[in-house]
Amino acid sequence: MGLHPIVLDTDPGVDDALAIIYALNHLDLQVHAITTVCGNIGVDQATINTQIVLSLLDCVVPLAMGQNQPIYYPLQTAPHVHGLDGLGNVSVQFESLEEQVVKKSAVELILDFVAKFPDQLRLVCIGPLTNIAQAILANSPLMRRTKEIILMGGAFEQRGNVTTSAEFNIYVDPHAAKIVLESGVPITILSLDLTHQVILSADRLHQATLCSNAPWRDFTWSITQPCMRFHQHQEGFHGMYLHDPLAVGYLLRPDLFKTVPAEVRVETSSSSTRGMTVANLHQQPMTPNAQICVAVKVEQFLNHFLQTLLDLP
Ligand code: BDR
Ligand code: CA
Repeated sequence: MGLHPIVLDTDPGVDDALAIIYALNHLDLQVHAITTVCGNIGVDQATINTQIVLSLLDCVVPLAMGQNQPIYYPLQTAPHVHGLDGLGNVSVQFESLEEQVVKKSAVELILDFVAKFPDQLRLVCIGPLTNIAQAILANSPLMRRTKEIILMGGAFEQRGNVTTSAEFNIYVDPHAAKIVLESGVPITILSLDLTHQVILSADRLHQATLCSNAPWRDFTWSITQPCMRFHQHQEGFHGMYLHDPLAVGYLLRPDLFKTVPAEVRVETSSSSTRGMTVANLHQQPMTPNAQICVAVKVEQFLNHFLQTLLDLP
C-alpha cells in the first residue's frame, strides 16, 4: 500500500503505548513525529511515558510536548484505568532517559509537518483533541491541507466510558472535538461502538509474549496488568480493549474495517451530556463530516496487531 506519513498525537496511557509500538514496528508507516497531550495523565508524564517507549524500541522520533489543559474544562485523568503514572505503574523502573523532546511545541510541530507534506500527512489522534484544535485555531487554512485525521473517540450507540453518554477522549475536551469536527479536514472515527468489539484477553497476550523475543516483550505484559485487572473488576473479563491500537490498525489494514459516512456533532455545554457524540447516518439532508468505522474483522486484526507488536514469526 506504500508508505503513510503520519504524526501520532497521544496521551500514554497503556493502550496508547501499545499503539505507539504497533505503529513504530510496522514498516508501512513513516512516523514523522509524536506529539503528547494531557488526557490519561498530565502532559509531562505522558511525555516521559512516550520517551520510555521510544527508548525500549531504540527509536529516535521527534517528540514534542503539547497542551497541558483542555480548552475549557479542568483536566480529568484516568489513573484508575492506566495506573498512577499512566503506564501501569512501571515508569519508576526507567531512570535517566535520553532527552528526546524537541524545542518546539506539539502545535508548532504538527503545523510544520502539515506544511512539509501538504495533502499527504495523516494525523493519528489517540488522546483528547486539544493539540489538533489549537493547531486549527492557529492556522486553519494550513490544517485543511491535512490528508486525514484518524481519531479514537466518541460513543454513538454504546454507552460512554466516563459518563453514560461520553467517551473519555471527547469528554476531556469536547470543545476541541467540536473544532476538529467542524474543520473540514477528512476525518475517520473509531468510537467505542467499534473498539468494544475487540478484546485482548490476558491469556492471549500471555501466549503471544511466550513466542516473542522482542526486547519490549516483558514491558508490554507489565504495563497491561493493572488495566486488565480494572476490566476484570469493572467489565467482567480479564483483558482490555484495544481502543488506540485500532486507530493504527485502520491505517495499516483498512481492508479489515467497514466505514460509513455520517454527520457527527458533539455536545459541549450540557452538564449531563458533556462530550456526547451524535451521528446522523441516514436522515436527509445530511452533510457528512466524517467516516465512522462500524465493523472490524476481529480475529484478523488481533493477529496482525500481536504479530507486529511482538515481532512474532
Ligand atoms: C480512550 O481513552 C483513553 O483512556 C484510552 O487511551 C483511549 O484513547 C478510550 O476511551
Ligand atoms: Ca489514549
